[in-house]
Amino acid sequence: MTPPKRYLVTSALPYANGLKHVGHLAGAYIPADIYVRYLRACKRDVVFVCGSDEHGTAIPIQAMKEGTTPQAIIDKYHEAMKEDFHDLDISFDIYHRTSSPLHHETAQEFFTYLHDRGELETKETEQFYDTAAKTFLADRYIKGVCPNCKSDRAFGDQCETCGTTLSPDELIDPVSTLSGETPIKKKTTHWYLPLGKHESFLRQWIMEEHKDDWRPTVVGQCKSWIEGGLQSRAVTRDLDWGIKVPLKEADGKVLYVWFDAPIGYISATKQWALDNGKDWKPYWYEKDTQLVHFIGKDNIVFHCIIFPVMLNLHGNILPANVPANEFLNLEGDKMSTSRNWKLDMRDYITDFVKKENGGGATVDMLRYYLTQIAPETKDAEFTWKGFQDAVNSELVSIFGNFVNRTFVLMHKLCKGKVPPLHNAILDDEDKQLISSIEGTALRMGQLMEGYKFREAMFELIDLSRKGNQYMQKKEPWIVARRVETEPEAQQLIDNCLHLCLQLTANLAVMCQPFLPNTARKMLGMMKVVDKMLDWENAGKLKLLSVGYSLREPQLLFRKIEDEEIKAQIDKLKNNMTAPVPDTPAPQPEKPAAAAKPLIQFDDFAKLEMKAATVLSCEKVEKADKLLKLEVDLGTEKRIIVSGIAQHYEPSSLVGKQVIVVTNLAPRKMKGIESQGMILTAEDKDGKLQLLQPALPVSPGSGVS
Ligand code: 2FM
Ligand code: ZN
Repeated sequence: MTPPKRYLVTSALPYANGLKHVGHLAGAYIPADIYVRYLRACKRDVVFVCGSDEHGTAIPIQAMKEGTTPQAIIDKYHEAMKEDFHDLDISFDIYHRTSSPLHHETAQEFFTYLHDRGELETKETEQFYDTAAKTFLADRYIKGVCPNCKSDRAFGDQCETCGTTLSPDELIDPVSTLSGETPIKKKTTHWYLPLGKHESFLRQWIMEEHKDDWRPTVVGQCKSWIEGGLQSRAVTRDLDWGIKVPLKEADGKVLYVWFDAPIGYISATKQWALDNGKDWKPYWYEKDTQLVHFIGKDNIVFHCIIFPVMLNLHGNILPANVPANEFLNLEGDKMSTSRNWKLDMRDYITDFVKKENGGGATVDMLRYYLTQIAPETKDAEFTWKGFQDAVNSELVSIFGNFVNRTFVLMHKLCKGKVPPLHNAILDDEDKQLISSIEGTALRMGQLMEGYKFREAMFELIDLSRKGNQYMQKKEPWIVARRVETEPEAQQLIDNCLHLCLQLTANLAVMCQPFLPNTARKMLGMMKVVDKMLDWENAGKLKLLSVGYSLREPQLLFRKIEDEEIKAQIDKLKNNMTAPVPDTPAPQPEKPAAAAKPLIQFDDFAKLEMKAATVLSCEKVEKADKLLKLEVDLGTEKRIIVSGIAQHYEPSSLVGKQVIVVTNLAPRKMKGIESQGMILTAEDKDGKLQLLQPALPVSPGSGVS
């Protein structure tokens, strides 16, 4: 079968609201990266896109938790996630972000296209409204009891305990997580995608065309959605964080995050094309493009039902496959951010990758283990012991050992050169090894095309196991004792090591999608160029030329020691926290500051306030709360002591502008005379924020 002309591979856009853990990595990123590296090795035209999902309630919720702005949250986590993916060698062609103007335009254009063609319905409904916070409540801001499992950890979109997808109306005893009050119902208008109208298209496309080539778990979930009755889905929200709905009558409304996020795959492709002088359109409009979405199972409905309906209406191609993975548990329990029962990618990077010179081997070790336990068909379990076993008993003892032995013996018994193959004396074992190499290449190719990466990697390790068994049977180190007396002995050694070396070269080709750093190291040892890793070389037996001299072996992997495993398990247990809800707990309202008596303008006019620039800043000794600042007021410099030490790092303030009350009588604090007061605002949770001019002004500018 001729392969598709081009591929567009996507990994779910992670929310920019926190670091991602190895469960995410195993679900949507490593499998996609393996697939893409394989396709690239096959010389196919492939673009691999991803980026940060920066809208939706998850972002303002995190901002509330961290006492900062949504913008600061997305900037922080976008960079952090991008770095983590890079450190683990996830080879996106672009890692974009949905806050980019290009994405906003693309999503708005998409909405307008559907709206103008009458594909969206409007409906006036009653939605939950928090009268205390004076805002409509996004689903995630409503908490209550789950109608399904009766847990009280259910939100207006999903139950955290049993995972059931919910709507706020289904919650028993709903309360607002913003104020803790019971919300009221208030009328609001929204735009809906009428999924019911597209039922026959979905039935035909998923349950007929893809019933055999999509994973059964994916088809099964879609089937139950379709058979449960497809409801119209609102694609707009009353929220102030997101992409504005491009309609005059929709003031104050934004696109629903799940409407804009998947369009992020398109805007990322556009940006990639702009950056590389390419045309993005064929990747989204031409039928000979294979679109593949790698996701976790909680995203199935969005990628298999809602987004395809949108794509279909918009004239785009549909995904050829959506290889969704199940979940990864950790040491016997569900991974959980709120209980801190998780292993963040960043933790592994810090504890293993960054600690070692040439951390590539440790990156490959994690990639290997996560692929070995990949939750392709059912939930799987990450255990540190399992990680240690995978590394020590497979990567070190089988794969690494085979390559190392081959190189050591080739240097010892064949003068460091690729020995010739003496066809006339090939025996059954030699022939069997040759056919194993050829057969493995074939099977691995088929498994990769079928998104069965765990099985494909099993083939790889099994082939190196066969290499070890072959070597063990041939015992070239024993045969070497007969070389002096038996003319054929050297030929036997040559054949054994020739085949083991060709097998080593094959292992480099075949491991490259899974273990890219190892493959590169092996290229170095064999003194061959990158081109050797082309997949067309898998299964070939003349990858290394006879007489070619090779380098000394390098150890490919190191053992994971018991102490390392113990330290990780202890860390996990010690860091576990009591569960805290994922949305801010309803907080008792802080008593309002006692109202002060009215003052006249003249009273206010007595204050002199000026903008100043911080020149230097340091902690005041023996005072937890105080910082000493030197500020520039244009015509003079002053020393000010301010009680903001628990809210700002001294170095972060240098160069910042602040507002100073300049005619307050000087006051001594901890022996330092403070010649003014810096103005701050106090948040609900007691966090102090400096008051600052929105744009820089000259130091000394009056404030009124
Ligand atoms: O579940 C999530 O983390 C979502 N941010 C995934 C979005 S995937 C795509 F649609 F962008
Ligand atoms: Zn439940």
